[in-house]
Amino acid sequence: MSYVLLTGGSGYIGSHTALALLRAGEQVISFDNYSNSSPESLRRVEQLAGKSMVQIKGDVLDADALAAVFKQYPVKAVVHFAGLKAVGESTQKPLWYYETNVGGTIKLCQVMAEFGVKNLVFSSSATVYGNAQNSPLPETTPTVAMNPYGQSKLMTEWVLQDLQRSDSSWNIAVLRYFNPVGADASGCIGEDPNGIPNNLMPFITQVAVGKRSELQIFGSDYPTADGTGVRDYIHVTDLAAGHVAALQHLSKGEGFDVFNLGSGLGLSVLDIVTRFAAVNQLEVPYQFVERRPGDVARYFADPSKAKAVLNWQTEKTLDDIVRDSWNWQKNNPNGYN
Ligand code: NAD
Ligand code: UD1
Repeated sequence: MSYVLLTGGSGYIGSHTALALLRAGEQVISFDNYSNSSPESLRRVEQLAGKSMVQIKGDVLDADALAAVFKQYPVKAVVHFAGLKAVGESTQKPLWYYETNVGGTIKLCQVMAEFGVKNLVFSSSATVYGNAQNSPLPETTPTVAMNPYGQSKLMTEWVLQDLQRSDSSWNIAVLRYFNPVGADASGCIGEDPNGIPNNLMPFITQVAVGKRSELQIFGSDYPTADGTGVRDYIHVTDLAAGHVAALQHLSKGEGFDVFNLGSGLGLSVLDIVTRFAAVNQLEVPYQFVERRPGDVARYFADPSKAKAVLNWQTEKTLDDIVRDSWNWQKNNPNGYN
């Protein structure tokens, strides 16, 4: 029996991926320090899957704690979600971001090498395309970081590419996520942000549930069809399936590769808000405010490489996204608390 180890397995994307892997018949270990999540998500994943998983509390910066996992369990591959993800915070605390995101990955890879485990899927972000103006964006789009968070993802990609060049027995898939949204259709697991959400969908659901009075729409004068920003929203269940596909790909021994995980469809802020209100029969009060610094008008994926190589594409619709986001929020007004 061999295991797939998920660092950050209790987080938003990690928990949905744990569920997808358990349902695909894999044995799963979650290794998480719970700095931005709760073990309650894993309890619910087990309930949904009808199967248990190994749950370890630990920090990816702690090499001894990581080594103990590899000593105890035969691990065949690692999906590395653990990290810090708030753009604004990364500009305030850059050293913490670099230490955790870059340093944590280096530590993980050192321990993996020590135990001869060389299959890795890494959570990168479409933020590495900077303020690229030419969506749809293929993986060959020039990369540039706009803030320490983005820089930490880009630096980690370089570290992983150099590692694989130095030792061709490594198989590494870098996944560049576009905008993950939604929740498992059960409404039992979902995104549980701390404090005021930075991202659009959790803000909308918190307005709808009455936690916040109104949504501020950042900019109404973008050169888009309705003047609001356009993004590529990907249902987290589709994203989770992308990880299962990437792990299958790695098992064939494919070296280093980079994949966009997105729908390829650009949707505006107003598309999301109006569909959310219509499908869920709710009011979402909003007002237009100034553009948010650093935002671009249009940003969406060319996902054709993931389709051709991983045989993966998104299946969920916008209606699925807005229904499942609301289902999670209304069943869990205070998240996992
Ligand atoms: P999340 O915060 O919900 O999950 C990250 C998990 O890692 C949390 O459970 C947290 O407790 C854990 N963690 C943080 N630091 C750790 C450490 N030092 N040791 C062990 N565990 C630690 O975030 P998410 O949205 O699930 O994102 C997962 C990954 O995907 C992150 O690397 C993130 O940068 C990347 N990503 C996320 C998005 C997004 O919009 N959600 C977009 C692109 C990329
Ligand atoms: C943001 C991050 C990006 C990160 C991504 C996923 C910035 C500048 N970018 O991307 O690095 O990878 O999240 O976590 O922070 N919007 C509103 N009102 C709100 C919130 C958002 O109008 O309250 C708009 C934004 O202007 C944008 C769209 O909604 O047009 C999506 O915003 P968001 O969810 O924050 O994602 P990104 O900006 O694409």
